[in-house]
Amino acid sequence: MRMRVAVGADHGGFSLKNELVMRLQEQYQILDVGAHTLDPADDYPDFAQAVAAELASGRAERGILVCGSGVGACIVANKVPAIRACLCHDTYSTRQGVEHDDMNILCLGARVIGPELATELATTFLKARFSGEPRHRRRLKKLLAIEQRQGK
Ligand code: RB5
Repeated sequence: MRMRVAVGADHGGFSLKNELVMRLQEQYQILDVGAHTLDPADDYPDFAQAVAAELASGRAERGILVCGSGVGACIVANKVPAIRACLCHDTYSTRQGVEHDDMNILCLGARVIGPELATELATTFLKARFSGEPRHRRRLKKLLAIEQRQGK
């Protein structure tokens, strides 16, 4: 069964998100939460929240968020419980973010990187798996405890 991947972007990430959807859809089941039209007045929190909700509900296993810098989308997504979103523009952090930290949303900045690197990062992210090593599980447990204490 193909991995279910939720993808979203505001106007800043619109073109790159569409390019990624085209490139990834053969290998992955893509849930495109929008934007579906280019609207310079749309807001990244709406799409970040929508992608995060797909993961929180279990409809998607991973998410990819694109905005102009990747920063705003990342900040918003991390407000949702059980979301571990990171802005990664290099393959080392992208892979290790999943293997060590169980990152589940990759954030990208379309005004910073181009489609080739973005595709390589997305592929690296989607192929990577949490290592499950005891030290990483211990750290994840601590993170989840912080989330619980914050009432998230
Ligand atoms: C939109 O202009 C831009 O602010 C947004 O896409 C993103 O870069 C925010 O972090």
